[in-house]
Amino acid sequence: MQRSQLLLRQPFKALYLLYFYFVLLLVKLPFWILTSLPRSWRPRPSWTVFRTVFLQTMDAVMEAMVTTSTYTMLRVDPQKFAKSAETNGLVWVEPTPELIVGDIKEYATKNGVTPTRVAGYWYGDRSSPLPEEKIIYELHGGAFVFGDASPVSYLGNAGLCKEMLRHNQQFSKAFQIEYRLSQGPPLPYENPFPAALIDAVAGYHYLVKVMGYKPSEHPLNGGVGWWWSRHQLNWGSSHFGPESSVTTNRRSDFIGPFFGGYPIRAMLGALPPSEADTNAWLSPASKYLRKPSGWFNGFPPSFLIVGEAEMLRDSNRTLRERMAVDMGERLTYLEVPGATHIFLSFTWHEPERTEGFNKVAKWLSATM
Ligand SMILES: *[C@@H]1O[C@H](CO)[C@@H](O)[C@H](O)[C@H]1NC(C)=O
Repeated sequence: MQRSQLLLRQPFKALYLLYFYFVLLLVKLPFWILTSLPRSWRPRPSWTVFRTVFLQTMDAVMEAMVTTSTYTMLRVDPQKFAKSAETNGLVWVEPTPELIVGDIKEYATKNGVTPTRVAGYWYGDRSSPLPEEKIIYELHGGAFVFGDASPVSYLGNAGLCKEMLRHNQQFSKAFQIEYRLSQGPPLPYENPFPAALIDAVAGYHYLVKVMGYKPSEHPLNGGVGWWWSRHQLNWGSSHFGPESSVTTNRRSDFIGPFFGGYPIRAMLGALPPSEADTNAWLSPASKYLRKPSGWFNGFPPSFLIVGEAEMLRDSNRTLRERMAVDMGERLTYLEVPGATHIFLSFTWHEPERTEGFNKVAKWLSATM
């Protein structure tokens, strides 16, 4: 039996986690604190000891999560809110098979993915749509393998949604869809690509056709396509190498454990591994795309925000170039110095976090 298989089983998993937290607390933490005391030993001289050590801890916890495949435990089952749906903003979103066409339909068939009913959650006030009212449609992160949209999300997605509302008072409501997550070896395959995309489309359809919000200049391929590509890691390997941010920013980011390949295996399902490099739906920033431009034609005005200190910085720079070719002035790019991955979600990542939200808010009021 492989080590990864063994670690799915009790009591091995429990023993591993016990050992992991024991070493973390008694050995690693004290060591990290000591080694981050000299400013020049920190990933960025501007970083505090706290930020440096917190990040190393997050990285270690991610590693433990990947090793023991405990991601699935982090998702909050919507059924939990079934009885209190009204107070928790829970709704059910019907599938929209008629909207799944072209190559997405082909991928769905190859991977045996069918449209299905999924949950969604409303944030903010619950009144009916006003004429011309604009809302936020939020799709959480998590490499398509973890995270959730519920109001008690363990990974802070609920917090991000609430902060977006707080910083952008022209919106009084936000909606998050509980799109299906992928799962792969050593666990059984579940919901490979394009399950999440299919659910995101259903969520958009619900907002426009069921709730009656007007899509205005944001056609379906704009709104959802934008999110989709924002969340695409460069799943392939085209941005690896000693000079790339994947290597040089390894110490200032916490998503290193995911580069072991778990998320992409889970996403690919029955598709050949080469798709990670050549499929623009999976990796719009891949350097191996046969057709690198044209994917962002017709996109709505977009704001791409990236941390300078994150591993995905360079693939985001490529993404930026590609989006700019197709969209010109409609793309705004912000790379925040010294900021790590998804720093907007971290209350300990100040002042970058508040400054970032303020810039997004300024851009939103100027653009909407
Ligand atoms: C760009 O950065 C964002 C934020 O960290 C990340 O979620 C996204 O996957 C990155 N995209 C690419 C193409 O690297």
